[in-house]
Amino acid sequence: LQALAARSRPDFLVGAAVALGPLAADEDLARDLVRNFGALTPENAMKPQALSPRQGEYTFQEADALLDVAERKGMAVHGHTIAFSEAMPRWMRDLPTGSEQERSASADALLGYVSTVVTHFRGRLASLDVVNEPFDVDQGTELQENVWYRVFGASYPVVVSRAVHDADPDVRQFVNENGADVPGPRQDALLRLVLDTNAHGGHIDGVGLQTHVYDLDTDTVTADDLAQTLDTFADAGLLVRISETDVDDSEGQDAQAEQYATILDTCFHSDACVSWTTWGVDDRYDRWLDDAGDLHQGHDLLFSDGEPTPAYDAVRRVL
Ligand code: XIL
Repeated sequence: LQALAARSRPDFLVGAAVALGPLAADEDLARDLVRNFGALTPENAMKPQALSPRQGEYTFQEADALLDVAERKGMAVHGHTIAFSEAMPRWMRDLPTGSEQERSASADALLGYVSTVVTHFRGRLASLDVVNEPFDVDQGTELQENVWYRVFGASYPVVVSRAVHDADPDVRQFVNENGADVPGPRQDALLRLVLDTNAHGGHIDGVGLQTHVYDLDTDTVTADDLAQTLDTFADAGLLVRISETDVDDSEGQDAQAEQYATILDTCFHSDACVSWTTWGVDDRYDRWLDDAGDLHQGHDLLFSDGEPTPAYDAVRRVL
């Protein structure tokens, strides 16, 4: 896929999210990843809860191993992610913010985390989600009031962005969000957030649009909506990454394939859209527990048990 893309857009990246465990254990997966993708996003290995499970301690092994794979295979790496409410270790989530003094100590702890992590990876990341999923879940347009917010206030993205820039001025910075890939209040809020951040000294280069399509009945992304979205961010001088596409196949594999093709096609034909990443390679490793504790098997990626799905062929035809 990456080679096909490079024929008309040499700088465009076709990426996939991966975890180290399956990659190290499954030759089919490693083959499909390396043959097709020019960029890799660590699925969980660079989240705060993975990098610093205890305050002041850092565990870089898994992330470093993924970086080694990427570098051996000539793949770019997209870092994911610095400020993310959902994936903080307990110590970070619970930093005290009651008094001025506590906020000041907590600010030092958060900024120490950013500096240590970004310095560790400096020079090895092409781009980085400095803020992930800033807004309230379920289509909200207000910032989640996480520890970053409680310590630094509503302008915390400025603080994160500047701290990242201080440690690595060359990494391209993104704010990544779901539900902002079609025009509407949430997209407006994302645009405003990024423009405000940059107006106050931030260094955000663009936005990541996740495009998880869990239900083709309700979440379909149309070419018109996505094209309009890309124009909106381009007109504001921002780049766009399509950052986490996966499409459930419960409406059938043809509908799934068509949705994949629409998303990639629209992105690939917009200069503002610099890369497209799918959230995983093979359905085999796409499993999750629901609230009742039942295990579900995903059917939403380009490969299934080492074989390309119709969505793979559809994506290939776009390029
Ligand atoms: C998901 C991973 O895929 C899972 O393995 C993990 O258990 C939870 O997080 N949006 C994001 C990603 O930005 O970090 C999430 O990744 C998927 C939704």
